[in-house]
Amino acid sequence: MSLSTQPYKGTRDFYPADMRIQQWMFNQMRAAVSRYGYQEYDGPMLEPFELYAAKSGEEIVNQQLYWLMDRGERKMAVRPEMTPTLARMVAGKIHELPKPIRWFSIPNLWRYERPQRGRLREHWQLNVDVLGGDRLLADAEILKLAFDLMKAFGGEKVVSLRVNNRKLIDHFFKNTLGLSAEAALQVTKALDARAKIGEEAYSEWLNKIGVDVSKRDQMETFFHSDFAAIQKLVSCDGVTELTQLFELLEQSGIRQGKEITFDPMIMRGLDYYTGTVFELYDTSPENRRAMFGGGRYDNLVGLFGNHTLSGVGFGMGDVTLRHFLETHKLLPEFESSTDVFVSLPKIENRALAETIAANLREKGLRVITPLEVGSFGSQLKLATKHEARFVILFAETELERGAVLVKDLKTGQQVEVKIEEIGSFQGFSLLRSFNH
Ligand code: HAM
Repeated sequence: MSLSTQPYKGTRDFYPADMRIQQWMFNQMRAAVSRYGYQEYDGPMLEPFELYAAKSGEEIVNQQLYWLMDRGERKMAVRPEMTPTLARMVAGKIHELPKPIRWFSIPNLWRYERPQRGRLREHWQLNVDVLGGDRLLADAEILKLAFDLMKAFGGEKVVSLRVNNRKLIDHFFKNTLGLSAEAALQVTKALDARAKIGEEAYSEWLNKIGVDVSKRDQMETFFHSDFAAIQKLVSCDGVTELTQLFELLEQSGIRQGKEITFDPMIMRGLDYYTGTVFELYDTSPENRRAMFGGGRYDNLVGLFGNHTLSGVGFGMGDVTLRHFLETHKLLPEFESSTDVFVSLPKIENRALAETIAANLREKGLRVITPLEVGSFGSQLKLATKHEARFVILFAETELERGAVLVKDLKTGQQVEVKIEEIGSFQGFSLLRSFNH
């Protein structure tokens, strides 16, 4: 029996055509976050299991973690997210690192999910985080940066940033509805599943938790309120923080009700968020999932000692981003990775072919050879298949004159060029890689 060529369920192979899209996306990300002075970091794929058990939340730990026992009987987890690693690394050098710490990373992450559109078992995730500084100023920077990131991809007009605050949600569940922390968590889950399970099952679920009709009415009002209504309805730190955050963002051109909206339904699945939480949505109906999300975490770094450094950040997945770029036709036309194909009609031509190839590579050009002898016609076909822009052909008459033929496969034009002048051929100097 032969082995399957399929990758493991929920993972992807990156053939060169996919890889160049992936690399292009990462380069855009790097350029956008570097403009804000964020520095790149990375950590190991394996971390102690307890790192996630402490704070990431029940769903990730009990249902989604890939884990293994190493030969020394240590229980290790394959990273499902980057934030705990970031907190560990920051805590490890907390006194040396200049604050605020502005870091980014693009790790591959593993979650045991039921694969579906936008959800896979392995994905790459841009993580952008700032630790230290004034909390609200940092929240405002991260949100503005998230918006600018979409701008770098040309997609800022078709997305909406939705923001909420965990303190407001906690206040509503605890003080307004009088729910215990456990009941509040169950209500969040019921709300999250509501659209999927239907009104009847949702209602039964709330009954089971002990949320009566009057509380349910309060929930309906709360979860359908805009920010002006919430300001009248609730008074707590969460509302004050949101009010100030909207003012700061307005100064950066991110207007409430326009580029950013308040959405009381944004809660985020991870346990460690303590303040501002947000998600960025694609506004087109084909792509309804949140493209990325994040928030403020006050107590993560403190897990590693008596530290009180607060952070805020987000994670943006490559799967949802690529769908977004495809849906909105925002991917560029990629140019070929080959500039020149140096042919090999006879083995006697090899020394010359190699000299020419070496000469052109020194000029920065991307040059390939066929690695086998072939006729004029077959090598021309091969050069076309490899998407070379130019092909160098050796023909007896020209060789006798100390020259070769250079054919431009885009225009079909063919010219005779002296061998010693090949490096300064006009046509090559127009290529982007020339002298780079
Ligand atoms: P998260 O919401 O779990 O947050 O993931 C962030 C983003 O990663 C999602 O919005 C989505 O784009 C992508 N993503 C997550 N899981 C998958 C999956 N199975 N398949 C494809 N894409 C996925 C976090 O992980 C936080 N640690 C982010 C953060 C950084 N918060 C503060 N700093």
